[in-house]
Amino acid sequence: MTLTSQPDVPALRVLGLTVAYDRTLAVDRADVELEPDRVYGLVGANGSGKSSFFGAVMGRLPQPPGTVEIFGLPGRSARERSLVAFLPQADGLAADLPWSVAEVVATGRYGRLGPTRRPRAADRQAVGDALHRVGLPELARRPIGELSGGQRKRVLIARAIAQQARLIILDEPFAGVDETATAAISGVLRDLADSGVTILLASHDLDGLVGLCDEVLLWNRRVIRRGEPAEMIKPEALLDVFGLTAGGPTAGERERR
Ligand SMILES: Nc1ncnc2c1ncn2[C@@H]1O[C@H](COP(=O)(O)OP(=O)(O)OP(=O)(O)O)[C@@H](O)[C@H]1O
Ligand SMILES: [Mg+2]
Repeated sequence: MTLTSQPDVPALRVLGLTVAYDRTLAVDRADVELEPDRVYGLVGANGSGKSSFFGAVMGRLPQPPGTVEIFGLPGRSARERSLVAFLPQADGLAADLPWSVAEVVATGRYGRLGPTRRPRAADRQAVGDALHRVGLPELARRPIGELSGGQRKRVLIARAIAQQARLIILDEPFAGVDETATAAISGVLRDLADSGVTILLASHDLDGLVGLCDEVLLWNRRVIRRGEPAEMIKPEALLDVFGLTAGGPTAGERERR
């Protein structure tokens, strides 16, 4: 498939996207365009609508108004073709899930299995390669429930790699992860971008974003500013998204008052 190698086709193109819950406007007419093969950081206060934005892009919310295109395809078609993978803020893997690490990674192949739906040698190879890529080949047979939080994040990145997703969206991949695992995850994400995968991640680890991202998007229900990571994490830039007083109400909270 040559879709992703077309020049000028954005990895993600969002126009006028709005997510409204009963009492909250979480995403307000957001426009976002991301170029392929880059790492993007999304930075915004708690409650500023980052997860809601991801949910809408992933088709997890009932038909929000707006347009989502992934590599030039409507969001739904891109998802059906396994072009995009998503790692949610909470991984949702039950501690007693009786699956091995390799089995979890293999679920990334489901969308790509042939008509027999049976994994072939190429699928097994892809699972092994993906675990190698995230530095966990020795854990392949371990039950997923026995892994630490940081290891599980890496397993889910391996699943996205096995899926051959061209856009990987990660919601807070560094939350609750120690420095060593953060460095390991950052290294894997950087490698992926260098090999033709677009990465979009939400993170509160501002310093960590500087070495990792090509561009940072400051978010408050929509993109407020975007640019060089080192510029975007300066206090002057962050004032725009986090408000003038530390600990003050977020836009969402002000709205509910
Ligand atoms: N399912 C829901 N029902 C109603 N309101 C919701 C729901 N999910 C989120 N919200 C509200 O929408 C707003 C945005 O929430 P969201 O989780 O998207 O923010 P966030 O930027 O991801 O925050 P955080 O940094 O804490 O993860 C918040 O005010 C939240 O209370
Ligand atoms: Mg969130």
